[in-house]
Amino acid sequence: PDPAAVRPLLLSWFDRHARALPWRLTRPDGRRDPYRVWISEVLLQQTQVARGLVYFERFLTAFPDVERLAAAPEEAVLKAWEGCGYYARARNLHRAAREMAASGMPTTHQGWLALPGVGPYTAAAVASLAFGERQAVMDGNVRRVLSRLSGVREPTDRWAQQQADVLLDPQRPGDWNEALMDLGATICTPKSPRCAVCPLQTHCAAFASGDPAQYPAPKKR
Ligand code: ADE
Ligand code: SF4
Repeated sequence: PDPAAVRPLLLSWFDRHARALPWRLTRPDGRRDPYRVWISEVLLQQTQVARGLVYFERFLTAFPDVERLAAAPEEAVLKAWEGCGYYARARNLHRAAREMAASGMPTTHQGWLALPGVGPYTAAAVASLAFGERQAVMDGNVRRVLSRLSGVREPTDRWAQQQADVLLDPQRPGDWNEALMDLGATICTPKSPRCAVCPLQTHCAAFASGDPAQYPAPKKR
């Protein structure tokens, strides 16, 4: 699809329909709070948004900012993480918070990648949402949407990342990333995408094919 055509359609849909989520608290400059983005993205790697909301509020109540997370004893962090899955993630959050308390919070994708437990997905989310850097996030939802828009049934990692980079709105990279996440979570869902209400319908190859749920093909193993 043509990036110049698709961007304003998806962003104006997002402006009208963005889900109000607590990690989307926006500061006066329009950017997100990096601490909230970081914690929520790590949580949401293994939890649906509905459950993630509950865990997020609990964790933020216990540790409202990076300084208080850094200062906490490890067992308090593990306790606040109960139910959220892999404890290695909580240990890494704690370690990363201590690094930030000592050396400051990174403000770039590269800087975030250097922290324990922060992979390309989380680094791209924090860099774009909280710092306005042009970094495209890639996960299963984004991959599915891109596969459908282009009508590519077997997207490789390389293709998907390249496509994500090309489409990313350079003026609003954070909103663009969240808009793709929301579209994938609420409209362009795996089994029965709601194409009738999709802002990108007229630009979507999978819709044109008549059977969008066939995209992408199930992974061979
Ligand atoms: N899933 C992963 N990250 C998300 C975010 N920032 N907003 C909504 N859903 C998400
Ligand atoms: Fe997904 Fe359908 Fe929208 Fe295409 S038209 S992006 S398949 S919801």
